Amino acid sequence: MAATRITVKDNGPLRIEGDFEILDPSGATFGLAGRTALSLCRCGHSANKPFCDGAHKAKGFVDQVQARELPPPKPQV
Ligand code: FES
Repeated sequence: MAATRITVKDNGPLRIEGDFEILDPSGATFGLAGRTALSLCRCGHSANKPFCDGAHKAKGFVDQVQARELPPPKPQV
């Protein structure tokens, strides 16, 4: 298993597990109180962004996910 695993949940959040840190745009680190797993909102409805608070269920967020190959990255100029 990779040091960090992110699982995209059907109709729900991004579940992140392992060794990670979460930064705000200024580079400041969120204090995670020792958590090694948490969920990040991808529905846009959480009142506690960037973390999931379960609002996706009440809002009826629907997005089924299946792993796929991405195209190669564009060359940097
Ligand atoms: S994914 Fe759970 S509140 Fe947005």
